[in-house]
Amino acid sequence: MKKIIIAIDGPAGSGKTTTAKQTAKRLSYIYIDTGAMYRAVTYAWLGSGLPMDEKAVASLMSRINLEIVHTDAGQKTLLNGKDISEEIRLPEVTASVSEISAFGCVRDKLVEQQRNIGKSGGVVCEGRDIGTVVFPNAELKIYLVASIESRAQRRTLELSQKGLDFSVDEIKKQIAARDKFDSSRTHSPLRKAKDAVEIDTSGLSIEQQTEKVVELARSII
Ligand code: DC
Repeated sequence: MKKIIIAIDGPAGSGKTTTAKQTAKRLSYIYIDTGAMYRAVTYAWLGSGLPMDEKAVASLMSRINLEIVHTDAGQKTLLNGKDISEEIRLPEVTASVSEISAFGCVRDKLVEQQRNIGKSGGVVCEGRDIGTVVFPNAELKIYLVASIESRAQRRTLELSQKGLDFSVDEIKKQIAARDKFDSSRTHSPLRKAKDAVEIDTSGLSIEQQTEKVVELARSII
């Protein structure tokens, strides 16, 4: 069977992670979470004491070693050999990741690394610019959307399951701010690739949204 590249893009909380993970599992593909890589750089920046400017962040990029390891339990993110898969989900990382991921020096390095991981196919790669920049020739491109209300509700639930309590309104504001930043930046802004299939996940269950993607993939492979 052909091993294709499946690109899943969309704004925060649109269901990319769950859909990408489940699709990868169903097809026995590797799941690549590119947001985790931008989060890892943000985590490194937070601990560095450096200012938020391109020169400082470029110097940080030349010093850090970021590794993505695929295990049966999913993707692990290692920074200079240390597993930081949990730490990259902290609210302070989320608060600065949009700014960090807007720097060209960060994107160039991470995009190259992402292309290397996915080049042989058999991957479900999730992010903001996968179908437009990282893998413009991906055989299947999905663009997930959902109402801000349902996205904020999902995120709030996810955070409360980790013991972090936020109101839906607070999360809604954060998501709206991140959407605005991610879609208006100069380098690789969040946008739908021309040939992507758009799926609105607002009223869909995880099973339903996964089924749609798996069906589309099976019609190609
Ligand atoms: O998917 P996520 O919420 O973990 O992503 C965190 C941030 O990383 C997101 O606000 C924008 C950035 N990002 C990006 O710029 N390009 C990607 N391919 C993936 C994420």
